[in-house]
Formats: sequence, structure tokens, C-alpha cells
Amino acid sequence: MKATTLYTIILLAVLASTFAGCKKEEEEEDKKDPNELGWVYNPTPYTGAAIPRNFPQPTYVANNNPLTNEGVQLGRMLFYDPILSGDSTLACAGCHKQENAFVDSRTFSIGIDGLPGKRHSMPLFNLMYSSRFFWDGRAANLAELALMPVEDPLEMHESWPNNIAKLQAHPNYPKLFYEAFGVEPADLTKEHAAKALEQFMLILISGNSKFDKAVRGTAELTEAEERGFILFNDNLGADCFHCHGDGSANQVFQEINAVRQFRNNGLDDPATPQGFDDYGFGEFTGNVSDYGKFKVPSLRNLRFTAPYMHDGRFATLEEVVDHYSTGVKPNSPNIDAGGMEFAYQGGVQLTQQEKADLIAFLLTLSDEEFVTDPRFSNPFE
Ligand code: HEC
Ligand code: HEC
Repeated sequence: MKATTLYTIILLAVLASTFAGCKKEEEEEDKKDPNELGWVYNPTPYTGAAIPRNFPQPTYVANNNPLTNEGVQLGRMLFYDPILSGDSTLACAGCHKQENAFVDSRTFSIGIDGLPGKRHSMPLFNLMYSSRFFWDGRAANLAELALMPVEDPLEMHESWPNNIAKLQAHPNYPKLFYEAFGVEPADLTKEHAAKALEQFMLILISGNSKFDKAVRGTAELTEAEERGFILFNDNLGADCFHCHGDGSANQVFQEINAVRQFRNNGLDDPATPQGFDDYGFGEFTGNVSDYGKFKVPSLRNLRFTAPYMHDGRFATLEEVVDHYSTGVKPNSPNIDAGGMEFAYQGGVQLTQQEKADLIAFLLTLSDEEFVTDPRFSNPFE
């Protein structure tokens, strides 16, 4: 081999390794070394919201997702940021408004394409007492659920791969994800976003209503409110407590028991179960015996959450109470025979006075502090 040839080969090899070196550096720059950028992964346990002392032990267990200040704050931003929707106009908060205890005051929410969904939105608080989510229970946990509205064509109508690309290119989010989960931008997945949203939803605790304060000795119910409470828990009165909590053992005022979470309260009576406009829980389980059953909602914050029921059919609490008093359809397929024991006579038959007392009590479950709490508000305002 001639010396010049050898020289050329060595030179080429040196050049090649230099280029390889450059390429490697470029890649590393692309990956952004968090240490060089001054990002720190050292999340601090979330300390903001405590379970009210008159509440039972939460039943919900977040899967490998401990609440941290960084995770909660990131989740709050994602919840309020329209960036996750197809045309960047609609955030989760567009259909879950804090002033309405995180429900939408529209009967049916409108998605980014201007089309209405097929059910009324649901309020978001005390979710740590639910074991399934949505009116039909099709989501098993909040992280799984958090992915669904984005891809729903009637809601945010966007793909997660697009959203991940938008978040990776954003000036702030890569750092916030790193601080919350220790994930480098190139490794960001939709599951990280879902975990952050789950964390934010779990801090939405509402337990400072007048009723709570009365239980804790810092407020007093009026006589009418007191009479309403007794009616609520009376088998022969309004008989609401079988399904909505009773205010003694269950002051969350929603069904906590996983097995009893879905019921039919006698709103409609098609001739057969297949005749229901919305199969509800049955749409998820596929069992005809579940058609027409819906998630038993919380009775807290009703002052802010009208209209009521899965299809928003009742505009006022008067209409709701009229339903339970005389409007129950005894022949509704799959009606909850135990809970609706007065269905045969159309309902519990309340007098005008009793109806007024019952509503007065229900309104004591509304928590003014919750709907204005700055920890839950839009972080961009
Ligand atoms: C277009 C309006 C709309 C948007 C946007 C929206 N939601 Fe919803 N949300 C709804 C409706 C409607 C329901 C009830 C749907 C059903 O039962 O099928 C619901 C139900 C829920 C529930 C169930 C609550 C329970 O008690 O079971 C959660 C949790 C929730 N949404 C969180 C979110 C999150 C997080 C986002 C953003 C990623 C979001 N929503 C975006 C309308 C919306
Ligand atoms: C058999 C169980 C059962 C009984 C008893 C019952 N409910 Fe309900 N309640 C439900 C279910 C299930 C829903 C949701 C139904 C739907 O949307 O289709 C509901 C919905 C409601 C809502 C609407 C809440 C919202 O966010 O839309 C209110 C208010 C309510 N019930 C109040 C009462 C009162 C007051 C009583 C007693 C007079 C009562 N309930 C008795 C099961 C019951």
C-alpha cells in the first residue's frame, strides 16, 4: 500500500469519526439534556387539599400516580389549555366550568365542530369516591378517561400523536413535564398528560357547604332545612338516602358502593329495555338488565349544576322533586325496585311544604367556596 493511500484512509477515518461526533452531539442537543437546561426532577408531595373530616375514606386508588405539587399544577394547566383540541379553541374547562361546579350549564355540550354531544356534562368533584366514570361507567379510572374527550369527534376532536407533538414544541410544557414526571421531551407520551389530568381532578374536593359546617358545628341549619334533611332520610318521607347517601355514614351524598353505583330512577318507560333512547350502563356492560341505568350522581352543589339528569331534562330542582314525588314510571324496565319502592304509586307523594323543605335541605349541600377556590381556577387568567 502506498503511503498516500494509507494517509487518505486515515484522513477519511478521522473525518468520519469527527462527523459521527458532530452527529452525536446534534442528537444530544435534540434530546435536550435537562441537567444542562437547569431542569430539576424533584417533585414534592401535594399538600393542598385534605379530605374533610366528616367524609369517609376515599375508595378510588390512582394507579402508580402519587399526587405532587408539580403534577397537580401541570394537570391544572392542561385542563384549562385549549391546546389539546383540534382547533385549539376548546379545553376540558370549556365543558367543565368551575362556576358550575365543573359541569356545563348547557343541556348538551358543544364540541369544536359545533355539534352537540349526546349526554349532559358531569360535575367534577369528590371523584375519589367513584369507581367508574361517565354516566354509563365506561371509564375505569380517571387517567384512562382523561384520554377520551380529546379523541371524541363530538368533543375536542384531536389525535394524541398531534397533541404530543404540540406539547413537545411548546416553550413551557417540556420543562413542566420533566419536573412532574422526570420525562425528557422525546419520551413524552399521552399517559404522562393523562396522569397530570388525573392528579388535578383528584384535588377537586368539595366539603365546605353549609351542611358540612353544620356537621362540624360552625353553622346551623334553619328549621325548614332540618325538616328537609329528615324527609330525605325517611323511608316514608322522600326516601332519597338509599341511593344518594344519608348524611350520617355517607356525607358525600353520592353512591360510594361500586356495585350499586348504576341505577334506574324511573325516568322513562319504553315497552322493552331496547326502547330506551340511551342504554346507559347497559351500553357499556352489554347486559340488557343494565339498560336504562345511569351513574347515581352526587347531590352536592346542585345550586350550580342545572340542568339535571344524564340528558339535562330537568331545568330546576322543583322539576326533579316533582319527578320523585309523582312522576316516577313504575313500568320502567330495570327500575331499581328497592330504591324506588313507591314507584307503584308514581313516587313518594310529597306535599308542597315537604317539597319546599326538601329543596331547602338540598341547597345546603352547595359549596360556595369550591366554585371560587383559586386552586381550581384557570391558571392562565
Ligand atoms: C365537549 C364537552 C366536553 C369536553 C371538552 C370535556 N368533557 Fe368531560 N364530560 C363531558 C360530558 C358530556 C360528560 C358525560 C359523558 C358521558 O357520560 O358519556 C363528561 C364526563 C366527564 C367525566 C366523568 C365524571 C364522573 O363523575 O363520572 C370526567 C372525569 C371528565 N368528563 C373529565 C374531562 C376532562 C379531563 C376533559 C379534558 C381532557 C374533558 N372532560 C373534556 C363533556 C366534555
Ligand atoms: C333508586 C335510586 C334513587 C333514589 C331513591 C333517588 N335517586 Fe336521585 N338519582 C338517581 C339516579 C340513578 C340519578 C341519575 C339518573 C339519570 O340521569 O338518568 C339520579 C339523579 C338525581 C338528581 C340529578 C343530579 C344531577 O347532577 O343531574 C337529583 C337532583 C336527584 N337525583 C335527587 C334525588 C332526590 C331529592 C331523591 C329523593 C326524593 C332521589 N334523588 C332519590 C337515583 C336515585
